[in-house]
Amino acid sequence: MPAENVVAITESLRVTTLEPTLGAEISGIDLSKPLSPVQRDEVHALLLKHKVIFFRDQHINSAQQIAFAAQFGELYVHPTTQQEDTAKPQAHLILASQAKEAYGDARKGRWHTDTSWMLKPTYGAVLRAVSLPQLGGDTVWADAGLVYRGLSEELKARIDNLFVTHNFKSSLDKVGYDYPIIAHPLVRTHPETGEDALFINFSMSPQFIGWSVEESRELVAELLREFSNPEYQVRFKWTPGTVAFWDNRALLHYPVYNYGDFDRVMERVLIADTDIPHRVRRT
Ligand code: SIN
Repeated sequence: MPAENVVAITESLRVTTLEPTLGAEISGIDLSKPLSPVQRDEVHALLLKHKVIFFRDQHINSAQQIAFAAQFGELYVHPTTQQEDTAKPQAHLILASQAKEAYGDARKGRWHTDTSWMLKPTYGAVLRAVSLPQLGGDTVWADAGLVYRGLSEELKARIDNLFVTHNFKSSLDKVGYDYPIIAHPLVRTHPETGEDALFINFSMSPQFIGWSVEESRELVAELLREFSNPEYQVRFKWTPGTVAFWDNRALLHYPVYNYGDFDRVMERVLIADTDIPHRVRRT
């Protein structure tokens, strides 16, 4: 008798829910092969439902990872991340040494969402473990919809129509990529599920348009405390061969750096969005 959090979707596809609103491990699917249209739709539906899904024991290579991700949208070539193989620019290496710098100080905020500095950020990320430390190096995801719903009605009313900046300019300037600093609505409605969720990137010096620096700092600190609440999170322990697929419109994530100088290596493929998620409007 399977445990209550294990659901068989088809004879082979099994879903083990990790937390009530986010995270599920999926088994019975081989990511090295093209998915059937039915499997593709099932994986897409599971992504929308669980926000981050995990596939263990896949042991796929970069080309197979790219082929898997490409079944869910157009792939995005990131201008600042390093590629292992320039013939496969859609796969970016995430090296601990560089990522620690890019994602900043835990106290200021390592919680982030991918490519939010763009007007139309990538919605999907497929991350594959390449080289893992013996211990540590977990990733934590926080449910941005749940965080939003947990705010007081008074705070929601104060922030619902705010715009927040996503400043990646210094990293882009280093590679000569000219792009302005943009602002997104702080609260956005997910285009596929209709869920309202916070959209903020704590690693990109967020500031609220029209607010003083001090007011911005206070609200950023308050929202950071909310995202840090374990009740909104799933924490995942990687094992060799694991692949994660998450929806950047629905959550933020946090790489845990607790493994000293070990050169943890991950490879990530980003999936472009077809639309800009719109804002929640309160009258
Ligand atoms: C990322 O921040 O996109 C990667 C997360 C990780 O390396 O754990």
